[in-house]
Amino acid sequence: MKKAARFWVAGLLFVSLALVMLGCGAGDTKGKAASGKDSNAAKEKLVVGTDATYAPMEYMDKKQNIVGTDIDIVKAIAKEIGVEVEFKNYGWEPLFPAVSNGEVDLAVSSITITDERKQEHDFTDPYYVAKQVILVPDDSRVEKFQDLKDKRVSVQINTTGHIVTKELLGKTSSKIVAAETMPLAIDEMLNGNADAAVGDNSVVNDYQKNNPNKSLKVIEDDSFEKEYYGLMVKKGNKALVDNLNKGIQKIKDNGVLEKITGFEVE
Ligand code: ARG
Repeated sequence: MKKAARFWVAGLLFVSLALVMLGCGAGDTKGKAASGKDSNAAKEKLVVGTDATYAPMEYMDKKQNIVGTDIDIVKAIAKEIGVEVEFKNYGWEPLFPAVSNGEVDLAVSSITITDERKQEHDFTDPYYVAKQVILVPDDSRVEKFQDLKDKRVSVQINTTGHIVTKELLGKTSSKIVAAETMPLAIDEMLNGNADAAVGDNSVVNDYQKNNPNKSLKVIEDDSFEKEYYGLMVKKGNKALVDNLNKGIQKIKDNGVLEKITGFEVE
């Protein structure tokens, strides 16, 4: 009797193990066409990483859904190239290794295409144009970027705002307050730990408009260059870049991109 029971337990274990292995196999071979990993599959799902703290570009709505302009843009691209997309919130800094190690197929996060980033990652064609701006209290005497020369400036860490601020204040300046997210960088300015916050106009303008009670003003400066956002993929994944570019071109041509962003991207 005991022996028989053991036989059945072993048998059951064997069968479930086989089923699990079968399941994994099926998952692995399912549609990898768009990501370029395998070309003979139908509808692929791309996993898209983001830092959903960047309203109105990518953020969490009240129901904890990842939403925003960037999200709408990726959904529109996905529709054009016939793939499904699933968004995952990674935070800003972890996003870069998540793309490199293949945890996500691509990242959308208002990521400016820069030469330095191009060494580690590949980018699609630009789909959005932005610029740095300065956010200060209404009564601040700051008028231009140079005026921040001996001031404390808050930024989101390792963003282009951080880079331009390092150029102004010095790479290791203790006057740079580098926060993990843009909202935290703005908080540093609001609580007086920084005289100004520097970040993308797409987000800073929105914050100022939606928080009239905080009495803030946004300063533009001609010394800031235009920045172009791209979708970021793992270095060498040309098939995916090509496919995404096709989608980007389509939504530029059919006016969908302009409808989402409100302006034309050259
Ligand atoms: N455009 C800037 C950069 O690429 C800031 C992007 C930050 N994006 C975000 N979701 N936090 O460095």
